[in-house]
Formats: sequence, structure tokens, C-alpha cells
Amino acid sequence: MYSRIIGTGSYLPAKTVTNFDLEKIVDTSHDWIVSRSGIHERHMAADNELTSDLALQASINAISAAGISANEIDLIVVATTSPDQIFPSTACILQDKLGIQNGSAAFDIQAVCGGFVYAMNIADLYIRGGQAKTALVVGAEVLSRMLDWNDRTTCVLFGDGAGAVVLRASETPGIVACKLHADGSHRDMLKADGNVRNGVVQGDPFIKMEGQAVFKFAVKVLSEVVEEVLEENNLKGSDISWLIPHQANIRIMEATAKKLGLSMENVVVTVAKHGNTSAASIPLALDTAVRDGRVKAGQNILLEAVGGGFTWGAILIKW
Ligand code: UT7
Repeated sequence: MYSRIIGTGSYLPAKTVTNFDLEKIVDTSHDWIVSRSGIHERHMAADNELTSDLALQASINAISAAGISANEIDLIVVATTSPDQIFPSTACILQDKLGIQNGSAAFDIQAVCGGFVYAMNIADLYIRGGQAKTALVVGAEVLSRMLDWNDRTTCVLFGDGAGAVVLRASETPGIVACKLHADGSHRDMLKADGNVRNGVVQGDPFIKMEGQAVFKFAVKVLSEVVEEVLEENNLKGSDISWLIPHQANIRIMEATAKKLGLSMENVVVTVAKHGNTSAASIPLALDTAVRDGRVKAGQNILLEAVGGGFTWGAILIKW
């Protein structure tokens, strides 16, 4: 038994913020942001939009593309670092907003920018193990609310958005292989260490990142994990039709593509328009490439991501 993606969807909040807009509020420049990260603009949620609202729209689009009814979904996994509230989980809120009342499991997973590959792996295992038949896997973030708008080293990088896939049990792959890793000893390189104690926020609730150290770590572990997945499946870089990376930085994506011997023509890049949307970036990029016809039946698709924790992983899909 395998799991197979039968529908993708995404949602971006209406408001866009360009690098030129950011020049007005922080000491930065369009040229610096583009040359260091590849980002031109990002979307930002409206004040009344929650992570679950973004997740809902992306899920509706994925469910519609899959041609199923929401009540067929028997597992919801939401990857997010910016949940609506401390609890309940955004997945439970999403289940309710989708009107699903079949009592099936719904939970969030927290692996920061590595979240979507973690969530997909979990849903794949549920389906392979026979515990679910139709899973909704979502990456959704409103990171704009976790940014210190006086910190130019972080506030120019991130954006809001959501992406979703419907995974269904299938006799044929589908998801061919998943590899996940984590190393908590690097947890201070990228963090928001605030927590609520006795009703008061302790520590720093804003995202802090040692950019250069994260950059070097990301290039190293992503190269390793994509090679690990390909080797175990007797594939070469040239067998991959599309690399769909976490969209943090165009230079990290170029380094991974180079390691695989892939041209950038085979890499789906949305970072220019979305910025870094953390757990949402891969399903947003995947949905873009599915809907514009780049992703086609029979192709080998490789997803990869790295994020705070540190967590990282890769997923090989036969489309
Ligand atoms: O999604 C999870 C994983 N996250 C990532 O993968 C992000 C990884 N890191 C990166 O993408 C890059 O390190 C950044 C885009 C964050 C930064 O690029 P960089 O080439 O590593 O720049 P840097 O941090 O070495 O900073 C270079 C200079 C510094 O000035 P000095 O010390 O050379 O005078 C910074 O203060 O650029 C300065 N700087 C800025 N200048 C204008 C930092 N942020 C800005 C800014 N605008 N927004």
C-alpha cells in the first residue's frame, strides 16, 4: 500500500508587501534583499485572518482539485509554527471550519520550516499502515506576527500563506521514500524562545536567526539528505523532473540543484513572490507547479526542507 497525492491547493492573503515597502520601515534595500535571498515581495495576512483561515482556503482548493467530499478525509495533519492559539491545535480548528464531523484524527506538527516534509511523512505512514485512507496535509503560517519589524536581518525574509495536499491510499506510488532528520544541538541558530508563564510572555517571542550559520548548515544537510534519498532508490539527479525545495533563499536552492547536477530549469522557485513561508512554502510551490502544468504524471518529484530545531528531510514522489 502506498499514498498518492490526488489534489493540491494553496492560498495567499490578498495584501502584498514589496521590498520597496520595507525600505520605508527598516534600514534595508530592494537590491540587498534580492541579491542575498531572491525575494521581491511577500504576502501578509489581514488583521482578522488566522493561520486556520489560510489553511481553510488552501484545503478547500485541494479538496476541490481532488474531487472528493471533505467528509472522506480521515486524517488532518497541519504543519505550523504560527498556530492560531496555544491550544487546541490548528488542525482541530481546521477540521471544524471544514465541517468535518467524522471523528477522525487531527493534529499539528511543529518542525518549523521542515514541517511540511514531516507532516507528509506522518500522513504517508498512517496510510501505509492502514490507519487512514484519505489524509489532508497542510502547511500554513502567519509568520508576519512573529517578526520584529525593527530587525532587518529577519523581517525582510518571511511571508504568510498556506498550501495543502490530499493524500489517498493507492496500490501504486505516490510517495516513494521519505527521510527525516533532526539535531536539537543547533536549536539556538534559529528560534523564537518566548513562552507564556503564569500569563506573562517570558523570553523573546520574535524570530531570531544567525543567518550565515543557518545558510551553511542548510546547504550541507540538504545536499546530504537529497543524495541519501536518491542513493537508496537507485536514482541520479538527472532522474528528477522537478526539485521542489523549501523556499528560504534562492542561493540555497541553487546550491542543492548544483549538488544534484540539476539545472535551475528543473527547480520550482516561488521565493521571489512568496518570501519564506516556512511550513507552507513547499505545498505553495507544489500547487503552483501542478496548476501551471509543469508537474505531470510519471515524473519523479523531489521535495526537501530544513528549518529550526534543526529539522530537515526529503521526500521522493512518483507523480
Ligand atoms: O527557513 C529556514 C531556514 N532559513 C534559511 O535558510 C535562511 C538562511 N540564511 C540566509 O538566507 C542568509 O544568511 C540571509 C539572507 C539571512 C542573509 O544573507 P547573508 O549573505 O548571509 O548576509 P549576512 O547575514 O552575512 O549580512 C551581510 C551584511 C551585514 O552587514 P555587515 O556586517 O557586513 O556590515 C548585515 O548587517 O548585510 C547586513 N544586513 C542587511 N543589510 C540590508 C543584514 N540584513 C540586512 C537587510 N538589509 N535586511
